[in-house]
Amino acid sequence: MIGDRFRVDEMIGKGAMADVYRALDLQTHAFVALKILRHTHIADPISLARFQREGEIQALLRHRNVAALLATGITDQLQPFLAVELLRGKSLRNVIKTDGRVPARRAASFAWQALNGLSAIHQAGVLHRDLKPANIMLEPSPGPVERVVLIDFGFATFEGSAKLTAQGTVVGSLTYIAPERLRGETTDQRADIYAVGVILFELLTGTPPFASENDFDLIDLHVNQEPPHLRDLDPALPHALDAVIWHALAKHPDERFRDAAEMAGQLDLAARQL
Ligand SMILES: Nc1ncnc2c1ncn2[C@@H]1O[C@H](COP(=O)(O)OP(=O)(O)O)[C@@H](O)[C@H]1O
Ligand SMILES: [Mg+2]
Repeated sequence: MIGDRFRVDEMIGKGAMADVYRALDLQTHAFVALKILRHTHIADPISLARFQREGEIQALLRHRNVAALLATGITDQLQPFLAVELLRGKSLRNVIKTDGRVPARRAASFAWQALNGLSAIHQAGVLHRDLKPANIMLEPSPGPVERVVLIDFGFATFEGSAKLTAQGTVVGSLTYIAPERLRGETTDQRADIYAVGVILFELLTGTPPFASENDFDLIDLHVNQEPPHLRDLDPALPHALDAVIWHALAKHPDERFRDAAEMAGQLDLAARQL
C-alpha cells in the first residue's frame, strides 16, 4: 500500500530516476500509473526539486492528449510519487519496435494528436523538452486510431524559468534534440516542434532522420546536415508529408512552424492527400 490509497500491482516502466507501477486507486477504484522516485535519488536535492517540479507542471495541464495528474504524495520510505492516469496501450517506441514502420495515415494521426497536446502544453507556458517515442503513449479508443497521450514532464520547464540543469549540459535524447540547443542558443517551443518532426519521420520510415553510433557525428548531423527526403529513401513513402517534416526540421527555429497549432494544421492538410 502507498499513501493509504494506492495498492501497487506490478512494475510497468523504469526511467532514469523513477520506477513506474500500475496500482489500484482505492478512492476511485480505477487503475493508475504511480511514478515513484527511486530510493537512491531521494537524498539528492536536484533530483527532488526536479521531481517536485514535474508534478507542479503536470498539475497545470488538462488536455485529452496529455496524461492527467491525479494525485501526488510521499511513501512511508519518504519517496515522493506522482499518480497519473494509466495508459493501457503501447508507447510509440514499442510500436516502432514491433511494427517497424507505421502506415502513413496512422503516423499522421499520431503526430497530429501529439501536436494538439503539445499546443496545450505550450499555451500553459511549458516546454516539454523530452519528446520522443518512449514518452508518447497510446490509449485504446473507440475510433479508428488510438488516443495519443504525452507523458513524462521530468525535463519540462516553464518558458524562461530558472534552470535545474547545469550550464552547458543538454537534457533529453540526442536523437530528438533541436540544433539550436546544440549550438547553445536559448530555445523555445520550436525545439519541441523539431522533436515532433523527428518522430514523424521515424514513424514513417522506421528510423530517425539523423543517426550515428557516435554522439559527435550525431550532433554534426543535426546542426549541419539536411534530412533525407522520404522519396529518396523509398518511392512508396508519402511525399505529401515530406514538406511538413522538412519545415519542422529546419535548422533555425525562425524557419520552422511558428507553433504546434500551425504544424497540426499543415499536417492535417497534407494528410488529406494520403
Ligand atoms: N501514465 C502511464 N501509463 C502507462 N505507462 C506509463 C505511464 N507513465 C509512464 N509509463 C511507462 O513508464 C516509462 C517511464 O516513465 P517516464 O514518465 O517516461 O519516466 P522517465 O522520466 O524516467 O523517463 C514510460 O516510458 C512508460 O513505458
Ligand atoms: Mg520517459
